Amino acid sequence: MDAIRIYGGKCLDGQTGIQGSKNASLPVLAATLLIKGTCEIENCPEISDVYHMLRLLESLGCRVMREGTLVRVNTEHLSEGDMPADSVGVMRSSIMLLGALLARVGSVDMDYPGGCVIGARPINLHLQSLRKMGVAIEEREGGFSARASRLKGAVHQLPLISVGVTENLILAAVLAEGTTVIEPAAREPEIQTLCEFLKQAGADIVGIGSDRLTIHGVDRLFPVHFRIPADRIVAGTYLTACMCAGGRIFLQDAPCHHMASVLSKAAEMGAELSCEPDGMLVMCRAKPAGCERLCTGCYPDFPTDLQSLFMVAMAVSGRAGQIEETVFENRFRIVPELVKMGADITVMGNRAYIGSTQRLQGAIVQAEELRGGAALTVAALAADGTSIVTNRHYIDRGYEDIVSDLRELGAEVELA
Ligand code: EPZ
Repeated sequence: MDAIRIYGGKCLDGQTGIQGSKNASLPVLAATLLIKGTCEIENCPEISDVYHMLRLLESLGCRVMREGTLVRVNTEHLSEGDMPADSVGVMRSSIMLLGALLARVGSVDMDYPGGCVIGARPINLHLQSLRKMGVAIEEREGGFSARASRLKGAVHQLPLISVGVTENLILAAVLAEGTTVIEPAAREPEIQTLCEFLKQAGADIVGIGSDRLTIHGVDRLFPVHFRIPADRIVAGTYLTACMCAGGRIFLQDAPCHHMASVLSKAAEMGAELSCEPDGMLVMCRAKPAGCERLCTGCYPDFPTDLQSLFMVAMAVSGRAGQIEETVFENRFRIVPELVKMGADITVMGNRAYIGSTQRLQGAIVQAEELRGGAALTVAALAADGTSIVTNRHYIDRGYEDIVSDLRELGAEVELA
């Protein structure tokens, strides 16, 4: 069955390694399209979103070789092949190929990217920004075609901060004619990683890590060997598991330096954290302390991708609190499933109000998207009795092997 069975109520004790970052791997793999030759990317997580990205690269004529988490991509012979709709459809990050492909081959025909149920996920800013760089875009039923003889640098004053738009514009700008300015640019660690990869390949990018990026187009980029950093959201997931179940765990390679807002909130809720050179030690009492208010935002504020996980910790704390979700319009999908487990949570618009739940009870609950699925699994660790989380394939989009990781941390979980 496409599910996980969790025997709850057991505190954690163990250690596990944190995989490479999904949201850093995807734009870096897209960026290999800009580089003639073979790039070697280490620590690419073995997750379905990366599998779909590799399939898309192969459909475009790339030669992809994979040995575990080491991926080699050779782009000598790109074709204008159509990208397989099933891969484009299931993975929003396929939109990131747009900027890179236009820079390399000058034309793209693709279906609108899919995504999960957390929001409309429009691509209007992607398309209008690329039009400013000389791209002719014709939209059609279910997709669009884009053409550009040579991309031209432009000054982008964006109406909102978007990770994907920032990434797409960086990929379009590094080989463009002239200079591109992106403001406000998203500052997520994954964008800093993309810029570091491109600089290593010869790109000219100024302002990395700031909200204003200036990119001077160069004529050519050169193959690199690069290592993807650890995934801050996976590390935050297992940190929350320890907060909810209690115990003592060590997360090898956890990128503490990318997690300041998360660690601060976890400490406020009673977690004892120690950042070591090779990872993070987490010690938590059986039940987290409460948190009156949690608000998500763009980096370095609290990440929306851990909002569902911290909702579970707040529900388990037994104290009232509220969550404000400012990034996506529909990211409270797990509330009805948590209520099934006995949580007292009500949603009004972009706010969720958590009451003083006593204890969660095991139940059969359904994942509807990636991080919500992980949050239900964490809730089941803290619940009394046995739970089953169905639709495990959503979780597999972002976690290499959540069952093995949690077992290494001392949880009683199994594939179902
Ligand atoms: C990236 O999505 C991540 N995905 C998301 O992680 C993450 O939650 C999100 O950034 C925010 O940090 C990847 O990196 C693959 P956005 P992205 O563009 O780029 C609006 C996960 O769980 N918007 O920063 O799609 C949009 O609707 C995933 O790993 C427009 O209006 O997010 C949203 O409200 C989930 N028009 C806001 O911007 C556009 O053209 C921020 O979205 C583009 C975006």
